Order: sequence, then structure tokens, then C-alpha cells
Amino acid sequence: MNRPLRVLVTGAGGQVGVDLVDILRGELPWGASSTYLPDARAVEDDEFEVLALTHHELDITDRDRVSAALHATRPDVVIHLAAYTAVDRAETDADACFAVNAAGTGNLSDAAHDTGTHLIAVSTDYVFDGMKGASYVEEDRTNPLSVYGASKRDGEVLCRPEDTIVRTSWVMGVRGKNVVHVIADRAASGESVRFVKDQTGTVTVASDLARSLVSVARTRPGGIWHVANTGTTTWYDIADFVGRTLGRDDDFATAILTSDLSPAPLAHRPERSDLDTTKWRSHFAAMPKWTDGVERLVRDRLLRVTP
Ligand SMILES: NC(=O)c1ccc[n+]([C@@H]2O[C@H](COP(=O)([O-])OP(=O)(O)OC[C@H]3O[C@@H](n4cnc5c(N)ncnc54)[C@H](OP(=O)(O)O)[C@@H]3O)[C@@H](O)[C@H]2O)c1
Repeated sequence: MNRPLRVLVTGAGGQVGVDLVDILRGELPWGASSTYLPDARAVEDDEFEVLALTHHELDITDRDRVSAALHATRPDVVIHLAAYTAVDRAETDADACFAVNAAGTGNLSDAAHDTGTHLIAVSTDYVFDGMKGASYVEEDRTNPLSVYGASKRDGEVLCRPEDTIVRTSWVMGVRGKNVVHVIADRAASGESVRFVKDQTGTVTVASDLARSLVSVARTRPGGIWHVANTGTTTWYDIADFVGRTLGRDDDFATAILTSDLSPAPLAHRPERSDLDTTKWRSHFAAMPKWTDGVERLVRDRLLRVTP
């Protein structure tokens, strides 16, 4: 039998990280699909040796420590999830955001290059400005509207052609802070919600993305890949769907415009940044529909004992 593939995960304590580490270890995290196998292969016992590093264990802004960590552990693959993800806070904290998302990613690409490790860096739809008027393909021109988007774009630029960049969007998991929890709590308590209908995008369920990253780690293709659940939607439609899944009706979610938000969010977000996943679907199985994924999240968060 081949030796296990040694996979180092940065940002392993984040919402994608916790699901990815479970899947690499052969477990099915909360909210996961039991049938979505992008390359038709289940994770085998001892297929992966997992080095899961949280922020506390490896700060990716520390160039020397990043280099030392990769030289000491010699992973085959790094799945790089560590990121500064507070999109609005980044507008007034740009240096910190760029230090993590741009320089930190550069540190990993350099160390991976020095150690013969394949880097898989996760990026975002917010590298686009949303003006295309159609789904974004991998080759489309980037033009971020926010500090967060610019920092992630710079992180992409600091990667090498042989690295793999996985762009994803609107990530939500059972574990981790995201909008589904807010909506579901309001639905359960009888309150109503207002969500914008003038931002269109693609939902990505954290465990579905994690499952896709396992297939990317096996194949290590290089280049840019768009990975998201199937179908486009808006924040309002997500809220309405979650409400209906929990038994609420027309009275639950109200559609508003971004200009109605008060106070106005600090960061500008693209009006339409849904990711075209044709390239993904031509090499791997299509991701589940977003409604299927969000239904799993809503169901499993109710089953979870500890929030
Ligand atoms: N969430 C989304 O909607 C979304 C959309 C598109 C793309 N993405 C990308 O997907 C990836 C995973 O996102 P996620 O949703 O899992 O984010 P997340 O839950 O915010 O996790 C990010 C993790 O990175 C850690 N981190 C922050 N600064 C770090 C540093 N200097 N060194 C090491 N670790 C650090 C955080 O730790 P602390 O919390 O302890 O600081 C956190 O555990 C990121 O690259 C993100 O940009 C996310």
C-alpha cells in the first residue's frame, strides 16, 4: 500500500478547516453529504496523514515559522485556508488584512516551492467587481471592490503557476459564524428578517467545499478553479429558503436593497459575483444544489448538541 499523503492544513480551526480535517480523517462532519464524491472515491483508512494547524499553532504572517513548519514536516500538500475574513472590519484594518491574505499566502507559496510541496490556496469571488453581468470564469479579469477582495487578489498573484488556487464564495458550515445561523435563530424565535435581493452569488457549503479540496489534493492540478454549490441565488432567497425549511411562511423574509441597509456596510460588495463552475464539472462531479446543501445545514444544526 502507498504511504499516506501528508496534508498540512492552515487555518484548521475555521469553518472550512474543521470540516476538512474531519473528512481527511474519514469522518462525516455535520451538514455533509454522504453521496457527494467529486472523483467517485471515498476517503480510505490511512489515506491521509493530517497536520492540522490552527492560527495559534501557525501564524502565517511569520515568514520564518512558515518556512520552518514546512521544512520540519515536509508535507506533500498544503491546503491553505487561513485568512482574515472580516470583510467590513478589513476596510479600517487594511494592513492586518493584507499581512494575512497577501503576504501570508506568499509565505506559504515560497515555503512550498522550497520544499517541493504542492500548495492549494483558497480564494474568493470578491476578487471580481460584479460588473460582468454573467457568471465569472477562471480567466476573467479581477478588479476587487473591497480591501478584503484586494488582499485575496494579491495573495493569488503571489502564488506560482504550479500552485492551485480554488476560488469559492458565500461559505457556510454548521460550525463557524455565518448567516444561516442568524436566519435560523430568527425563524425559530418567531422574528422576521430583511435581506438584500440585489447581490447575486453562489453558496458554498463548507463540507462540500472540503470534500472538493480532498479531490484537489489527490490530483494537484495547478491553476485556478471555481468551486461552489450548483445554482445562483441572493441573500434574500437564502433567508426565505431557510425560513420555509423551518416552517415559516411569506411573513418571515423581506427583500430589501443594499442601499436600504442602515448603517451602510463599510465594504462594497459585488452586485453579481456568482462563480461559473464549468471547469470543475468537466473534471469532477458537480457540487450539490445550493438548496440541498443549505437544507442539510439547517437540519444538522438542529441535531447538534453543542452550538
Ligand atoms: N467565509 C466565506 O464566505 C468565504 C468566501 C469566499 C472565500 N473564503 C475563503 O475560504 C477560506 C476559508 O474561510 P473560512 O470561511 O473557513 O474562514 P474562517 O472561518 O474565518 O477561518 C479562517 C481561519 O484563519 C485563521 N487565521 C486568521 N489569521 C491567521 C493567521 N495570521 N495565521 C493563521 N491562521 C489565521 C482564523 O483563526 P482566528 O479566528 O483564531 O483568527 C480562522 O480559524 C479563506 O481563504 C477565505 O478567504 C471564505
